[in-house]
Order: sequence, then structure tokens, then C-alpha cells
Amino acid sequence: MTVRRLAASAYVPLGRVHPRVSRVGFGGYRVDDRSDVHREALREALVAGVSLVDTSTNYADGHSEILVGEVVRDVVARGAARRENLVLVTKAGYVQGSNQREAVRRARAGTPWSEMTEYAPDCWHCISPDFLRDQLTSSLERLAMPKVDVLLLHNPEYFLTDAAHRGVPQGEAREAFYDRLARAFRHLESEAAAGRIGAYGVSSNTFVVPHDKEDAVSLERVLASAGPGFAVVQMPFNPLETGAKEPLHTADGRSVLDVAKNAGLGVLVNRPLNAFSARGLVRFAAFQPDVLRELGHTADWDAERMMPLASYLDAEFRTPAGADATLAQRTLLALLGTPGVDVALVGMRRPAYVRDVLGAFA
Ligand SMILES: NC(=O)c1ccc[n+]([C@@H]2O[C@H](COP(=O)([O-])OP(=O)(O)OC[C@H]3O[C@@H](n4cnc5c(N)ncnc54)[C@H](OP(=O)(O)O)[C@@H]3O)[C@@H](O)[C@H]2O)c1
Repeated sequence: MTVRRLAASAYVPLGRVHPRVSRVGFGGYRVDDRSDVHREALREALVAGVSLVDTSTNYADGHSEILVGEVVRDVVARGAARRENLVLVTKAGYVQGSNQREAVRRARAGTPWSEMTEYAPDCWHCISPDFLRDQLTSSLERLAMPKVDVLLLHNPEYFLTDAAHRGVPQGEAREAFYDRLARAFRHLESEAAAGRIGAYGVSSNTFVVPHDKEDAVSLERVLASAGPGFAVVQMPFNPLETGAKEPLHTADGRSVLDVAKNAGLGVLVNRPLNAFSARGLVRFAAFQPDVLRELGHTADWDAERMMPLASYLDAEFRTPAGADATLAQRTLLALLGTPGVDVALVGMRRPAYVRDVLGAFA
């Protein structure tokens, strides 16, 4: 089955980054160049007109970036997409897996990356300029490209969470945090000037929590130290985790989506189909037959599970989807109908997911 190309209505401008990006982006979490299924899914998405791909240094320990580089170069070489129409986003900050082993090696050799947050035994974090310089070099090597369009600091709030665990007073922790961000941004301005990145920004899970929470990242304060290259933010947003649109993120009662839009930023939302509730993970999408078999459930069980989720969506959001739309399609259209949201990043790592997601725009 071939994929239909996305309609013109499935594109919007992404702030100052690009005049036209697809409203769904390919989410690169849990994709790997060693999987033919993931390769085919990304290829189909790009050929059908998906024009934004989100990856990170730590996704599949670098193998997500390798996959993105390989598939993008192949699709462009075959003339099925034009590089200048694509927006490739990667992120830096996590120190895990082989990156963590390198951090340990450097520390032992007496040349550590500076300002390391040793958050947990298997998860360190860093945004110092020397670290970011090295990370970008490694990302460009894995992508096999001279430049990435957007580099995001990946969940910099680890510093705040760690400081809170260690009992550092909130005011002191925040001063140190925004000071580190300002230095990271100055470095990223120099990377933009050198042509290794097009723009930069921040992806934070705590953009969406109330502004007085200890680990909250304030987009207002972030913008106060950002330079002209700061152009994109990313945050979680799904039917049960709707914090992004709540008026809780500034002292005068604005939402992070309002602040982002007023600043002319491009807004990417992540984890649109995977919602965490008090009762655990709720999936706003059907399960594939093989996954259902593994779980010991039937398609009828899944249909019954999804019914109340579809009713909830119709009640909470004005879902502009037809009656026969799948749950994933209804969910994405509902989220994309929220003012301020430009692109939903979807973990469409199987060709069947790509076809389902793109069917929302048929
Ligand atoms: N902090 C951050 O910066 C951050 C955090 C989270 C995510 N992200 C970005 O956002 C992207 C999306 O998040 P996500 O991948 O965690 O979650 P998601 O897009 O909400 O998808 C959740 C899961 O749903 C399944 N799925 C996707 N499309 C489907 C479809 N059409 N029908 C049925 N099932 C479908 C996949 O599960 P299976 O493959 O397991 O079946 C997928 O992993 C990530 O890939 C990443 O690029 C960024």
C-alpha cells in the first residue's frame, strides 16, 4: 500500500525557523538504524511529505541520529524530498550509555566535561559550552551532515530537580540554572554563526508545570537570556496532560503556549499519544495485532478500551475528525487544534503507524 502525500493544509510555518513544516513530525525516540521497520517507517513518512524529524543524542544511544542521517540522505539523493524543505531537530544534555562512559573516561584522564549534574548512577546531565560543542560534533558525525537545523537543550530541568533533592534553596538554584542557560545560549549563538546549527531552543518537561514548582522552567526567564537564534520550544502535551495550555506558567497567569506564541517561537509537542494518568499509562491509539497477541488481548478488547477515550476527546476538545477516524487521528487533530501548537511529534516507528497518522490529514 502506498502512502498518500500530505495535503497543503497539513503544513504551517514554524516560527522563524521555516515557512512551512508538516503538522506532524517524525519522533525519533526508540528508533534505530539496525531496524528495517524503523527505516521503512521514516522513509515512508518523508516520502509522504513529513518534513520535521526530532531526534536526540541519547535516543537508542546515538542510533536514532544515525538512522535519521541515513534515511534523510537517501530520500534526498533519490529526489523524493528536498533537504531545504526538511527541518531536522536534535537535542543535547543527557549523559547516558556510551556518552556516560566517555564522561567517566574524560574525568579519569583529568579533562572532564565541566558542570556535570550526576543525577542518578545511569543518568547524568550537562549543558556546559564545552560539552555542547563536543555533543554537536558527535551528532553531526552520526547524522553525516555539516549542519542540523535546530539544536534543543534536552530537559535542562535535571539541574533544578537535583538541586531540590540536595536541599539547595530554590532562589539560589534558579540563579545558577538561568546563569548556566545563558552561557549555553551564548555558545549556541556562536554555533549558529559558524553554520553548524540553524537555530536553537529548549525542550523541557517542566515548561508545563505551575511556575512556583521547584523544578519549573520559566519560558519568560529563558527568553530573557536567549539570543536571536533562540527559535523553538518543545514540551509534552496529550489529552490527559494538558498543562501546556493552562494559565499557570507566569506570575500574571499566562500559559507557556501563550508566552511562546507572543515570542514568535515554533512550538513542538511531544508524547501526544502516550498519556500518564494517576492510574498509569493510557495509550490514545490502537494496539497492533502482534502487540495485542503478546498482551493476550483481542481486537474487541482494544475497541472497547478505546471507546471511552474517544468520548472523552469529543467532550474535552472539539475534535474536527470524521466519525470513522481512528483514535490516534482524533487525538492528533484535537491537540493540533489547540492555539499555539505548531507540530505534534509522533512515535510513528512502524509503516502502519505512519499511514494511520497521515490519514488524519486525508
Ligand atoms: N523530553 C523530550 O524532549 C521528549 C520526551 C518524549 C518524547 N519526545 C519526542 O516526541 C516523540 C513522540 O513521543 P513518543 O514516541 O514517546 O510517544 P507518542 O508519539 O505519544 O507515541 C506513543 C506510542 O504510540 C504508538 N503509536 C504511535 N503512532 C501510533 C499509531 N498511529 N497507532 C497506534 N500506535 C501508535 C507507538 O508505540 P509502539 O511503537 O511501542 O507500539 C509509540 O511509541 C518522540 O519520539 C520524541 O521525538 C521528546
